[in-house]
Amino acid sequence: MPEEGKKADSDEETESDDVVDEVEEVPLKSRGRQSVSAEAYGEWNVKKAFTPPVIPKTDEQKDRLKACLKSSFMFAPLDDTAFGIIIGAMKEVTVTAGERIITRGDDGEVLYVVEAGSFDCSIPTEDGTGERVVKTCAVGDVFGELALLYAQKRAATVAATEDGVCWSLDRETFNHIVKESAQSKRNQYVDFLAKVPLLETMGSYERSQLADALRVEMVDESATIVLQGDAGDKFYIVEEGFCIALKDGYKVMDYGPGDYFGELALITQQTRAASVVAQRESKLLTIDGATFKRLLDIKDLEERASKYT
Ligand code: CMP
Ligand code: CMP
Repeated sequence: MPEEGKKADSDEETESDDVVDEVEEVPLKSRGRQSVSAEAYGEWNVKKAFTPPVIPKTDEQKDRLKACLKSSFMFAPLDDTAFGIIIGAMKEVTVTAGERIITRGDDGEVLYVVEAGSFDCSIPTEDGTGERVVKTCAVGDVFGELALLYAQKRAATVAATEDGVCWSLDRETFNHIVKESAQSKRNQYVDFLAKVPLLETMGSYERSQLADALRVEMVDESATIVLQGDAGDKFYIVEEGFCIALKDGYKVMDYGPGDYFGELALITQQTRAASVVAQRESKLLTIDGATFKRLLDIKDLEERASKYT
C-alpha cells in the first residue's frame, strides 16, 4: 500500500457516479447552494457545500467497517447521518507486516482506523540516533488524526508490525463531519486531565487519547456509584461534586474534583473493596476497564493502592 493510501483515491466516486451504494450519500441540508460562491457566504456555507465521496463497498465490507467504527471512541458517538457519510467515504487499506503507513514530517491527508493488526507509532530518540515506539495501535484505535486536527506535519512514523486492515478517511470528510466533535472533546478535557495528580506523568498524547475515551456520568446526591462486593468494570474521576468511600460501612476516603476511585477491582480482578457514595450531585468521568489498562500506569496505581488501610 502506498503511503497515505493514494492508490485507492483512483477508485473514489462522487455522487455523479452511477454506482448506487446502500450507504446512501446523505444529502447535506444545503445541497442547493453548491453553486453559490463560498466567499460570498463565508465559512458556514463552505462547510455546507461539501460533497462527501462515496466509495463503493460490499455488504460484507460495510458490516466490518461499522463494527470497526463502533469500537472507536472518535467515531462511535456520531449520529446516524454523520455515521452514514463516514461509512461511505472510508476506504479499505490492507497492509503487510513491516509496511510503513505514515512517515514523520510528511504532510498528512488521511487518518486511519484499525480493523485488524497492530501498528507501532515511533518518534526519534532524544539523542537522535534511533527511534522509540510511543504507542502501539490495536483494533478500534485511530492514528494519523493529529495532522488533520491541527494542520501540522506528521508527528510520528507509523508501521504495521503484522498483517492488518485499516480504513482510511480523507481530510475533507474528516474536517466536515468529525473534526469539530473530536476537537471539542479533546479541548474540553485535556486541560482538566493535566491537573489530575494521578495523570501528571502521562504523556500529552496519551492524555488526549484518554480524553477521547471519557464518558460523563451525572449522579444524584446519595447515589451509590460503586457497591462493595460488586464486580468492577469502570474507573472514575470526579469532575465536579463530592463523594465518599465506605468500607464495611465506615468512611475511609473523601473525593473532590480531580480525585479518582474504582481502580482496585480493575487492577486486582477482585470485587469492589469499598462502596462509593455521592454526597451531592456529582459529575463523574468514567473510563472502561480495557481502556484503563491500556492507557494508565498500572504500576503507579498499584503503588498508591498499597497505601489503603
Ligand atoms: P499524525 O501526526 O497525523 O501521524 C502520526 C500519528 O502517530 C499521529 O498523528 C498519532 O495518531 C500517532 N501517535 C501515537 N502516539 C503519538 C505520540 N506520542 N506523538 C505523536 N503522534 C503519536
Ligand atoms: P475498587 O475496589 O475498584 O472500588 C471501590 C474503591 O474505593 C476502590 O477501588 C478504591 O478506589 C476506593 N477505596 C478508598 N479507600 C479504600 C480502602 N481503604 N480500601 C479499599 N478501597 C478503597
